[in-house]
Order: sequence, then structure tokens, then C-alpha cells
Amino acid sequence: MIQDQLSRPLHDLRISVIDRCNFRCPYCMPGEQFHHAYQFLDKDQWLSFDEITRCARIFVALGVKKLRLTGGEPLLRPDMDVLVRQLAAIEGVEDLALTTNGSMLTQWAPRLKQAGLKRLTVSLDSLDPAVFKQLSGDRGKVEDVLAGIKAAGAAGFKRIKINAVVQRGVNDHAIMDLVRYFRGTGHVLRFIEYMDVGNQNHWKYKNVVPSRDIIRTIEAVYPLEYMGGTEGGDTNERYRFKDGQGEIGFISSVSHAFCGTCNRLRLSAEGKMYTCLFATHGTDLKEHLRSGTTDDFLAHLIRVTWMKREDRYSELRSQLRQSPQHLPKVEMYHIGG
Ligand code: GTP
Ligand code: 5AD
Ligand code: SF4
Ligand code: SF4
Repeated sequence: MIQDQLSRPLHDLRISVIDRCNFRCPYCMPGEQFHHAYQFLDKDQWLSFDEITRCARIFVALGVKKLRLTGGEPLLRPDMDVLVRQLAAIEGVEDLALTTNGSMLTQWAPRLKQAGLKRLTVSLDSLDPAVFKQLSGDRGKVEDVLAGIKAAGAAGFKRIKINAVVQRGVNDHAIMDLVRYFRGTGHVLRFIEYMDVGNQNHWKYKNVVPSRDIIRTIEAVYPLEYMGGTEGGDTNERYRFKDGQGEIGFISSVSHAFCGTCNRLRLSAEGKMYTCLFATHGTDLKEHLRSGTTDDFLAHLIRVTWMKREDRYSELRSQLRQSPQHLPKVEMYHIGG
């Protein structure tokens, strides 16, 4: 097991497979900037499925147990079921998950299930068709995502996680609609505090709704019981509905940072490793993959990168944001959250 400078083990690998998306969520890919002429990565800049699989095998040998596929929107990458099948076959992979905006799940869920995908997370910030439309940059329809979640359930995915990012004055008025919709379905809704990821979402602290306020709103209607927090490396605090109608979670990286147990490494679609969601610099693996480097050398590079790691952006957020050398951060659509 390898540990970083703060004694955190390497446990999760989040693999972005594409930097493109069919949505234009204003907090991630604002439409005015990501227009038809925007230059995304060329296809030959993406790591190939064999390159991703080779990396994953090396990561697993170094202690990674959990793989999560992300984007941009990962289901825009052609033949994702092929990659899932390759990754599922790696010995030592205990968990294999995918985070998607859900818009293409109806067509993909059965194939992903058959290929060996274990878990799904779907982003869904509002059930209100007008708010959803605005939050997807006028690209998405809420009914497609809800149909996608249904199709995934029918294909055999249990306990699908539903991620809702809450922004004050944008979608915080309709939190209870989401709670009511997902309670009792067996799926797990998780409210996420709006974060200052990337460099273009004009994040302000006043737009964050702290999880404790959301919990209070929910508890006024449905009493909750605390189940556990982020001690073991989870991103969310878990609660159950006292009336037995399932589980709900809260990801509080602004009000209650969880860097102390953060065991996640991120690999971008173009093959750079990032040791934090808010990192400035990535370590390139692709040039080594494409120049005939041995697995041993790649393992060495990964080990050194992890052992040097001392990131804890969320814990230092206010300090770092005020510092004059506030550095540009990697964009969310490059590393998938
Ligand atoms: P599980 O494996 O199901 O627990 O999922 P997860 O919580 O690791 O992954 P998911 O993709 O659902 O992430 C949920 C949200 O938490 C996203 O908004 C992420 O950006 C955020 N998140 C995930 N990992 C980190 C992290 O290491 N730091 C911070 N600050 N936020 C994170
Ligand atoms: N703050 C919090 N979560 C975000 N996501 C994207 N941008 C932000 C942000 N600024 C979420 C997406 C998705 C997950 C991978 O990250 O909605 O659910
Ligand atoms: Fe696409 Fe997700 Fe970014 Fe929205 S948050 S633009 S769905 S990658
Ligand atoms: Fe991990 Fe960085 Fe998030 Fe802290 S801010 S939990 S170190 S990814």
C-alpha cells in the first residue's frame, strides 16, 4: 500500500474518458464559451481503451480497489461497454462505477450491465422541467434522465446514486421535490454543496447552501437518522429515513471538508494524473505510454506522484482563494468531478 504525505492510501481511481458533453451546465461548460467552434481534445489525444486498461492494471497492482468512469459525459465515448468489459476483467477491481448525466442511459444501461458495470451515479439537479433545461444549458430534458434512471433500474442497477448540486436561488427551492421523488425507490439521492471547481463558474460562497440547512429542511418533514460520515474515505455523510424509506446522502466539501481521508486519484481523458479535484498541474502518463515505457516505470511514476501528494484544497479553500498567487485549476469536464 502506498501513502501520501498525509498518510492517505491510494484507493480510488476516477478515469475520465472524454472531455465532451451534450449538456452545457453553466457551472461546468458555460454555453457562451463552449460553442460549436470550441476545440475539445482530438480523438487521438484520448487514451485508447487498451491504454486505459493497461494503466488501470498498474493502479490496481499499487492498491486501487475502486474504478469510476467519468467525462465530460462518458457515454459519448463510443463503445463504452467494451471498456467496461476490459476493466471488469482486471483481477482486484472490487468496484466499477460510472457517473453520467443520464440522458443516454435508456440506450446504454442494459449493455453496461451486461459488460460488468457494478454501479451507476446520475447527475440530476432539478425535477422542474424549466429549471432543468436552464441548468443543462438548454440541452437536456428532465424526462429523458428520469426515463434513463428507470431503464437502468430495469436493467438491474440497484441503489443508483442521484447527485444534485444545490445552488442558492437556482434550485434550492425544490429540494423536497427530489426527496419525495426518490424516497422509497431504493435509489440514493445525494445533495452536493456547490463548489468552486475549475475557473469559470463564478463561484461565490453566498451561493452555497450548507448541507446542515438542507438536512433541517428535510427533517422538518421526514425525520432522519445519521448512519456514518467520511471517515472511511467516502465523500458523503449518510442518513436513513426513520420511516424505513431508504437512504440519503450529503456531500459537504465546502462546509465540512473531507480531505483528511481523500484517497482518490484522477486520470484525465488525455492521460494526465491529478492528485486533487482542484489541482493546477497534472502528471502526464500518455507520453510514457506511447513511447514504449515499461509497466515498472509507469508504476514508479504513479508511486512517486502519490507519495509526494499533499493536497487538501477544500480544507484550505478560504486561505488559498485569498492568496495572490491563486493558481488556475483543472476544469471539471477534464476530470469528471
Ligand atoms: P461513490 O463511489 O458512490 O461514493 O461516489 P463518489 O461520491 O466518489 O462519486 P461521485 O462521482 O458521485 O461524486 C459525487 C460528488 O462529489 C461530485 O460532485 C464530485 O465532484 C464530488 N467529489 C468526489 N470526490 C471528491 C473529492 O475528492 N473532493 C471533493 N472536494 N469533491 C469530490
Ligand atoms: N460543484 C459541485 N458539484 C459539481 N458537479 C459539477 N460541477 C460542480 C460544482 N461546481 C457535479 C456534477 C456531477 C458530479 C460529477 O459533479 O453535477 O454530479
Ligand atoms: Fe456535462 Fe456533467 Fe459538465 Fe453538466 S456537469 S456540462 S452534464 S460534464
Ligand atoms: Fe481530495 Fe482535493 Fe477534494 Fe480535498 S479537495 S477531498 S484533497 S480532491
